[in-house]
Amino acid sequence: MSDFDIKQLVAQRLGENYELHEKYINSTLVKVFRTIKFDRVYAKAKGAYLWDKDGNRYLDMLSGFGVFGAGRNHPLTAQVIRDVLDLDLPNMVQMDCAFLAGLFAEALIKKCPPHLDAVFFCNSGTESVEAALKFARAATGRSKIAYLDHGWHGLTLGSLTIMGNDEFREGFGDMLPGHRVPYGDLEALEKTLSKNDIACLAIECVQGKGVRIPPDGYLEATQQICRKHGTLLFCDEVQTGLGRTGKMFSFQHWNLEPDIITVSKAFSGGYVPVGAMITRRAIYQKVFNRMDRCWVHSTTFGRNNLAMACGLAALHILDTENLIERSAVQGQKLMDAVNALKSKHEVILEARGKGCMIGIEFHQPKSLGLKLAWKAVHAAHDGLFAQMVVMPLLDKHHILTQVSGNHGDIIRILPPFIISDEDIAYFVKSLDTVLEDSHQVTGPMWELGKNLVKAALANKAGKQQ
Ligand SMILES: Cc1ncc(COP(=O)(O)O)c(C=O)c1O
Repeated sequence: MSDFDIKQLVAQRLGENYELHEKYINSTLVKVFRTIKFDRVYAKAKGAYLWDKDGNRYLDMLSGFGVFGAGRNHPLTAQVIRDVLDLDLPNMVQMDCAFLAGLFAEALIKKCPPHLDAVFFCNSGTESVEAALKFARAATGRSKIAYLDHGWHGLTLGSLTIMGNDEFREGFGDMLPGHRVPYGDLEALEKTLSKNDIACLAIECVQGKGVRIPPDGYLEATQQICRKHGTLLFCDEVQTGLGRTGKMFSFQHWNLEPDIITVSKAFSGGYVPVGAMITRRAIYQKVFNRMDRCWVHSTTFGRNNLAMACGLAALHILDTENLIERSAVQGQKLMDAVNALKSKHEVILEARGKGCMIGIEFHQPKSLGLKLAWKAVHAAHDGLFAQMVVMPLLDKHHILTQVSGNHGDIIRILPPFIISDEDIAYFVKSLDTVLEDSHQVTGPMWELGKNLVKAALANKAGKQQ
């Protein structure tokens, strides 16, 4: 027997998290978590909940950025992983065709429209996007990629090329050849694609940053323009796939026929990372077009047994627990309940989204005192009001949410689809209570705002040094 005991290690050292990260990993992130009082030590997770070291329960309204649609630590996926380990299967032999990868590919393709019939497996969302960009370039012989404002596709260099949020590119030098298209502007899209030199247009049908819903007819017209100019339509379903928006894939809300899609996040079950790019066989074969090119795009850990087993389990759970419909129903209940608060809290602009992919946006209130307080915090940093909501939601009400991006006062809500009616009611009541505090300009909420302003100004000063 080995003297390495992971359970003992966890029991002995849990709680050192932030010190360890400060010393060995990302000390800046630690500083941010401490500033916004998110420096909790979570010790356990199940379904829609997290528990901290002291046994306090938290409602998880983020699902690990969209990973845990079926809830955390799903018992079936855990059992499937144990079963695969018990089987002592050969894993990553590489010089063979792995069995579980074949089974998962078959199951995945069954969930896709018939024209999407070939899969490439990898290990993360951004890797699946990298595959999409390479396959589009190989299939069209064009090297430029078009993408939309505010789009988000990951942070490796190819994905960063199609990043629609500038702050993430700052400091990283030149990107691949790409063309950014203003969101919602079909004329600009037509102009960009008109030279017939763009390999693909990358879109998220529901954008994750800010949870943007496209204007009526926009996506359908976008697809038409792509077709006209021989540009492939690439729908990134890394976040929106597997039921997050209340359909298997978000492009199905608009009956689109994308040439390439990417998936990841929820297929992992939250246990083993997995990514996949799915496309037409004709596009696929343009990459693997000769026997000496059979490995021209590949990755060591793609197709590994545990990832494939998690993907199979994720699809099974989605069907047997009727999770796609549940995502649509519970998400709509949540949005309706938050929108019903608008009459009470003028600061709420709207709750919007599809299924369990929801953004709650705030805007400047009309009443004089609140308007001045709002302006004062926004002079220091966009989005500070949303931060002033997210912090007490965690601190006082034990609900985990997040501010969506650097611009605009938007809270991102990605609950697990299994969220109960009681938990939706608890979330809405808690939001109501937090916003009630915002009516008092001299109350604790705006005091918190002042402290955040001080921290933001200190950060700006630090940047200028
Ligand atoms: C739409 C979309 N594409 C790609 C990615 C990148 O995925 P990963 O973080 O696994 O690299 C994300 C991550 O949030 C995403 O939301």
